Amino acid sequence: MNAKTSERGSFGSQLGVILASAGSAVGLGNIWRFPTEVGKGGGAAFILIYLLFIFLLAMPLMLCEFTIGRASGSNAIGAYQKLAPGKPWVAAGIMSVLGGFLVLSFYSVVAGWTLHYTVTSAAGELQRSADFGQAFTDFVSAPWPPIGYLVAFMLLTHFVVARGIQAGIERYSKVMMPLLLIIIALLVGCSLMMPGAGEGLRFLLKPDISKITSDVVLSAMGQAFFSLSVGIGCLVTYSSYFNKDTRLVRSAMNVCIIDTMVAVLSGFIIFPTVFSVGLAPDAGPGLVFITLPNVFRIAFDTMPWAGYAFSLLFYVLLLLAALTSSISMHEICTAFFSEHFRLKRRWAACAVTLLCIVLGACCSLSFGAWKEVTLFGRGFFDLFDFTVTKFLMPLGGLLMTFFVGWYLDRRIVVHQLTNGGRLNIPCLGFLLVLIRWIAPLGILVIFLNELLSNS
Ligand code: PHE
Repeated sequence: MNAKTSERGSFGSQLGVILASAGSAVGLGNIWRFPTEVGKGGGAAFILIYLLFIFLLAMPLMLCEFTIGRASGSNAIGAYQKLAPGKPWVAAGIMSVLGGFLVLSFYSVVAGWTLHYTVTSAAGELQRSADFGQAFTDFVSAPWPPIGYLVAFMLLTHFVVARGIQAGIERYSKVMMPLLLIIIALLVGCSLMMPGAGEGLRFLLKPDISKITSDVVLSAMGQAFFSLSVGIGCLVTYSSYFNKDTRLVRSAMNVCIIDTMVAVLSGFIIFPTVFSVGLAPDAGPGLVFITLPNVFRIAFDTMPWAGYAFSLLFYVLLLLAALTSSISMHEICTAFFSEHFRLKRRWAACAVTLLCIVLGACCSLSFGAWKEVTLFGRGFFDLFDFTVTKFLMPLGGLLMTFFVGWYLDRRIVVHQLTNGGRLNIPCLGFLLVLIRWIAPLGILVIFLNELLSNS
């Protein structure tokens, strides 16, 4: 078994562990989806609830994934076969791998749009467009260009994953994550200096309790899970590459803090600028692709070079974030394929890339040529998004908290969290209560509520 474990590869350092896991967490979910949800959910009130869910539900769930992954040293399905052989728990693993395919397929569509915006921004074309809304609609509904960008993005992801854990995922995360943090700091600085930025800050910092409805509560929970990449076996897979000295609780805390910081800072980039030019904060998914280019144009009317730099930096940031996340989604499937079918990593990665390109193309076409093609009343993109965020993630998360909180021997859990008793975790008792009671109950409430409100 030792030989097999070393064949699988592992992360080389604690920093690598944190940056790769934070890379998975920080993505379009933080920079594109979070501001969209904040805009719709009324600003600060949404953020408050979101923070609560990150630390009460998503962080314990992350610890469950870390425990399953490191205790088994196996891919998302193999983990359950090892820890609970012959038991139906493997269904949770199957949902993870299926979820990995679905999430990567629709994610790579938006990532492809991001690549297109990065390229056109670099070429100065984006800035010349007469009507950003029309340009966006024309682009996403044309059949071929978005598919071309999706394929290019998938190839970038493939390139990193195929190289393996240390030489691929860890190495590139160590470059991309610091770069991402630097770009964010630069953009926050610029954004706060814009005239009238104060109103955007007020929107982000002053909670209006009357805005908190049950719907806002539910979206905040969904957003917390999506943003931390939990409930889908992604972190089970990553933690199977942790070594015996990796500190699970500290790593989880760090990842939660980095992810939350990036989400909130993205709010600090977007809302002050949006308010400063008098646009609406609740533009939905078009916020980043339609409202922002407009912001860049209006704000830097007299300094086009600054508009150019700001917009290019922003899309590069979005692209880097998308890439570090898509790598982790790809890895869920690649690890399973290569271990289960005993394929070379390279070939397993090729199979995953090809399949995701096909599924991703179906999602992309649902914005144009296949608009009318629906399954269960939804186009492919919506269907995949819905299945993952509203169904597979909460259900997968629920199963994982039950598995770790109630099924696994408590000694295994404590052994993992304390590295075999070598670490003194002062809040261990509290963490175990979160894992056993608070997280499963909280998730059950979201899940049932979603199910009932959609049936
Ligand atoms: N957490 C990622 C983001 O915020 C999305 C993601 C979901 C990544 C599931 C991996 C698995 O964009």
